[in-house]
Amino acid sequence: MSIVERLDPESLEPEPVDPEIRVLREDDPETEVLRAAGWSVVAESWGARLHVPPDGVEQDAVLEACLRAVDEAARAGWRIEQLGPQDAVRIADLDADCADDYPWTPATGHDVPDPEDLGRRLRQDWSAFGAFRRDGDPDVADGPDDADWYDSDPDAPLSAVTVVSEHPDRVETEFTATHPDARRRGLATAVKAESILSLVAEGHRVFGTGGAAVNEGSLRANLRLGYVLEPRWLSWRAPAPPAPATARGGPGSSPTAR
Ligand SMILES: CC(C)(COP(=O)(O)OP(=O)(O)OC[C@H]1O[C@@H](n2cnc3c(N)ncnc32)[C@H](O)[C@@H]1OP(=O)(O)O)[C@@H](O)C(=O)NCCC(=O)NCCS
Repeated sequence: MSIVERLDPESLEPEPVDPEIRVLREDDPETEVLRAAGWSVVAESWGARLHVPPDGVEQDAVLEACLRAVDEAARAGWRIEQLGPQDAVRIADLDADCADDYPWTPATGHDVPDPEDLGRRLRQDWSAFGAFRRDGDPDVADGPDDADWYDSDPDAPLSAVTVVSEHPDRVETEFTATHPDARRRGLATAVKAESILSLVAEGHRVFGTGGAAVNEGSLRANLRLGYVLEPRWLSWRAPAPPAPATARGGPGSSPTAR
């Protein structure tokens, strides 16, 4: 689940994660109360929004970064395309390969989706976009104009995926993952870019995302596509309770007991 869904600014209360942890926006006056009471920040997370103008030159300017990201990935030999419910198992498999690399914070947990549940959601209001390579070897991948690209090979290896959910007010990223062997080649950026282009074509104009502050790759991919950061979310931990006082007169507590 994404941070923004857990911590929707419009919702009254963040989802409780741990009674010793409070998650507050950095501009929440309550943060000063917690600080004064000895609470400390144990994690930071961010949310961001991309607002796409209705149409015209302004929209083109915003979407230019997305077009460039998809084009660069295609030129490097990757195929970026929309996935469907039939891809639920390989999406979950890829996500399981990445599960250990999701940074955990009290506000940004992630569970590998159950394929059956994911397939059902992809038939409803979720969408997925993936990056494929040919024969599992990016060095022999064809160019985007080659005729022998597989469009629907069920065995084609999936290298990156982003899954998004549609809400009345926005499209929210559920998760994005790139196989460890395919990282830092622009694939997370490209699949997110494709999701934006595709959903803008369907009429969506507001996109939300978020993550742990330590997840620099995720943050940079979104900034490159034009997402604008919102105030940070801080996870505060309660001060440790004082150690219980040693009971007087207990065994061994008296210097004369030995
Ligand atoms: C985060 C993740 C999806 C990034 O995937 P990726 O395909 O390697 O990302 P990209 O190649 O598109 O890189 C995006 C940008 O981040 C940078 N980047 C990527 N990984 C980075 C890292 N570990 N440290 C610093 N910068 C990094 C890239 O250089 C690029 O920067 P640029 O646009 O300024 O050139 C991938 O590391 C991953 O799957 N992590 C585990 C799952 C996860 O944390 N998902 C995100 C939360 S939903």
